[in-house]
Amino acid sequence: MDGMAVTTTPKLDVTRVRADFPYLEELSGGKPVAFLDSAASTQKPRQVLDAMRDFYEHSYANVHRGVYRLAERATEGYEGAREKVRAFVNAPSTREVVFTRGTTEALNLVAYAWGLDNLGPGDVVVITELEHHSNFVPWQYVASRTGASFRHIPIDDAGELQLDALDEIAASGRVKVVANNLVSNSLGTVNPVEKLAAWAHEQGAIMVVDAAQAAPHRPVDVQALGCDFLAFSSHKLCGPSGVGALWGRRELLEQMSPFNLGGEMIRSVALDRTSWNELPYKFEAGTPAIAEAVGFGAALDYVSAIGLEAIEQHEHDLVGYALGRLAELPWVETYGPPAERRAGIVSFNVEGVHPHDVAQILDWEGVAVRAGHHCTQPLMTRLGVAATTRASFYVYTTRDEIDRLVDGLEKVKRQLG
Ligand SMILES: Cc1ncc(COP(=O)(O)O)c(C=O)c1O
Repeated sequence: MDGMAVTTTPKLDVTRVRADFPYLEELSGGKPVAFLDSAASTQKPRQVLDAMRDFYEHSYANVHRGVYRLAERATEGYEGAREKVRAFVNAPSTREVVFTRGTTEALNLVAYAWGLDNLGPGDVVVITELEHHSNFVPWQYVASRTGASFRHIPIDDAGELQLDALDEIAASGRVKVVANNLVSNSLGTVNPVEKLAAWAHEQGAIMVVDAAQAAPHRPVDVQALGCDFLAFSSHKLCGPSGVGALWGRRELLEQMSPFNLGGEMIRSVALDRTSWNELPYKFEAGTPAIAEAVGFGAALDYVSAIGLEAIEQHEHDLVGYALGRLAELPWVETYGPPAERRAGIVSFNVEGVHPHDVAQILDWEGVAVRAGHHCTQPLMTRLGVAATTRASFYVYTTRDEIDRLVDGLEKVKRQLG
């Protein structure tokens, strides 16, 4: 129709994307491996590998200390990566972006440095039945150390949060922290973090978001989410392992005690007293993962160039396709919400076959999936299973790989079912 503006998300060109990943060109038993374990960690594109190699070859020195030019270049690379993280999650300031070893360390930082000073008897820490152990165990531990109570938001049978439990939780004490993942690593559930953040703030609580499975796959904006802390890892986003980021609201970070102590995080040290460095360095003790931070920045550039909306759309298409294909196998039980409210993750079980055996046979077919509890044991208990098999998708995943998964499952059924 004339005059009507139609905006469409540019589609992800999966053939072009795949050409960036050296591993995807390798053959195993004459076939490329269908790598369906990106929720655990993603493959790395040449652009990221080249950026790290280039940095090590031409710009490497320790950061922040040296006055020589090489050290300045290294610092520029490292601080440039911090600016990329800031822009990626739309944080107001780079002072609010702390480099950590990954999501786990970021969440521990908040649980220890905020939790130990701000929680006590009568306070309530709220997590969900869907949390990864990284956003569960630190809070459970800090609650028990401080005498706070530890409550969870239950899920329904489709793996979605039952928000009608919130009133009862609010009545049980002073809710001080709500910690939740934006996307579940086991079920792919996309959780209503904005709503939870608004509820947390009504209670006078802080909202801590585990974005490990969200930031690589969809646009994430800390200001739109209305959260107080948000954590994610580089290695799930085409970047290197050993680095990740914590974003936190400046007022909160300013008030918090340090987490790790040592070099870099101090302003001055004397025999009787030490004062802390300004943000974000107060939380970055010791030599950081410098080249990894640079690789993280290159990975953010890489996924941003593909476009987060395009990535989200690509995975949405794949997950709908996978759920449809798995529904053809009546002896496969899938877990989690419908495709409309889920990211590119599918957990399932084959009737009568242990998930580890499923994964083993799939591996012989060149299909790499994960089997186990996926660091979500409370969720497995809720589902009434010890483990599941999980297929997870990313920028390089194709429908053909999902067909190979389904063909592999038919073999599993023939051999063991
Ligand atoms: C939802 C979620 N949170 C936290 C983590 C922990 O991330 P990392 O191992 O990078 O610290 C993961 C990784 O599996 C995850 O999927």
